[in-house]
Amino acid sequence: MARRTRLYEGKAKILYEGPEPGTLIQYFKDDATAFNAEKKAELKGKGVLNNRISEHVFTALEGIGIPTHFIRSLNMREQLVRAVEIIPIEVVVRNVAAGSMCKRLGLEEGTPLPRSIVEYYYKSDELGDPMVTEEHITAFGWAYLDEMDEIVASSLRINDFLLGLFAGVGIKLVDFKLEFGRFYVDDDMRIILADEISPDNCRLWDIKTGEKLDKDRFRRDLGGEIEAYQEVARRLGVLPSADIRELAAHPKAKQADS
Ligand code: TMP
Ligand code: ASP
Repeated sequence: MARRTRLYEGKAKILYEGPEPGTLIQYFKDDATAFNAEKKAELKGKGVLNNRISEHVFTALEGIGIPTHFIRSLNMREQLVRAVEIIPIEVVVRNVAAGSMCKRLGLEEGTPLPRSIVEYYYKSDELGDPMVTEEHITAFGWAYLDEMDEIVASSLRINDFLLGLFAGVGIKLVDFKLEFGRFYVDDDMRIILADEISPDNCRLWDIKTGEKLDKDRFRRDLGGEIEAYQEVARRLGVLPSADIRELAAHPKAKQADS
């Protein structure tokens, strides 16, 4: 296999140079981290599941006219994506109080919110992704106001759509995190959805039992992470047919990087 250039390694994914200009290969690792990587583990098969789940969600979003970086899946762990200039903001959309919102505001986890709430966090591992407002974002030039208007409108539309998509398979979409990037074609620039949408960056609760089917199982030492991710994939109809533990045993077999 041809050698290829590794451009960036994050906590859960690696980006390689793509086969054509303007493309990248997004590789899903099995690594799980929490609390700004203070807690780490390898969850065998997670990358395969997140690849499939994220592909499914991004394809569905493209279907309702949300532009995304996703081009196509290449194999069990890799996607061909458009290269974007990432806007250094994590956009969190919340429907139900959970996680940091409960700590910050003293709310009981599970309290439905009066309406969906959008929050922003500045992407900085050094600073632990601090919460920021649109004022910070525009004043420091991380994004322009018109870009933020587009990002909020798009995030709320994604939320409406995903609430329905997950409710259809008996899952409550509690909250999730999105990342956007600037995509340049000739002189034109568009804001498109990037990164991934998977149980790593969503809170997903079984509607009937309230069981957590997301990364909180890892963050809170509940165990059964892979079974939970598999359940999400199964309900969405995208569970890989081969035994993912078997596949996970050779995660890097097909890789050659420089
Ligand atoms: P939070 O309640 O910890 O702020 O998380 C809100 C949502 O954002 C939750 O679905 C998990 C996701 N998230 C990430 O994807 N990456 C992160 O670094 C953090 C802190 C949260
Ligand atoms: N991914 C994050 C980290 O390790 C935290 C999280 O998702 O809770 O920094």
